[in-house]
Amino acid sequence: MKKAVCPGSFDPITNGHLDVIERASGLFDEVVIAVLVNNSKTGLFTIEERIEMITEAVQHLKNVKVDTWSGLLVDYCRAHNIAAIVKGLRAVSDFDYELQMAQMNLQLKGVDTLLMATKPAYSFLSSSLVREIARYGGDVSNLVPSRVLEDLSRKSQMSQGK
Ligand code: PNS
Repeated sequence: MKKAVCPGSFDPITNGHLDVIERASGLFDEVVIAVLVNNSKTGLFTIEERIEMITEAVQHLKNVKVDTWSGLLVDYCRAHNIAAIVKGLRAVSDFDYELQMAQMNLQLKGVDTLLMATKPAYSFLSSSLVREIARYGGDVSNLVPSRVLEDLSRKSQMSQGK
């Protein structure tokens, strides 16, 4: 069975992530979405909230599961017999960082990375921009799954003390 992992912070998951996950699920027998814990960053959503939002967004994909991991991604891959890391590549500006991580992961534990070109419609999309636009009341309804939209609005109301 060929397994791949789509790793990330997913704070929150966007339609761009979802596009890559959907296409990866057609290429592999099983895809694991790994929500990586980054202890040096405080996110908008807790890891549990991110997992809930992702689980709802991928419920139509029967070979996709969601997990979380704190540590090196390559150790997760080795422990779960995962052959490849799949990451979206939005633009040339992503390339240097993604290539560096891909080469590091290869030399650390021999884990391959496949960089999947995102749809041009999502090349400008990032979780950080979604958070910022939502914080100031901008419209992100066509950028994130509906459940994420609800949760963003709930967070925004909480921060305004409503
Ligand atoms: O969504 P992001 O923040 O761009 O994802 C980056 C992520 C989480 C995939 C990357 O930081 C990662 O793999 N973190 C796990 C720790 C690790 O393995 N670091 C070494 C990378 S070469």
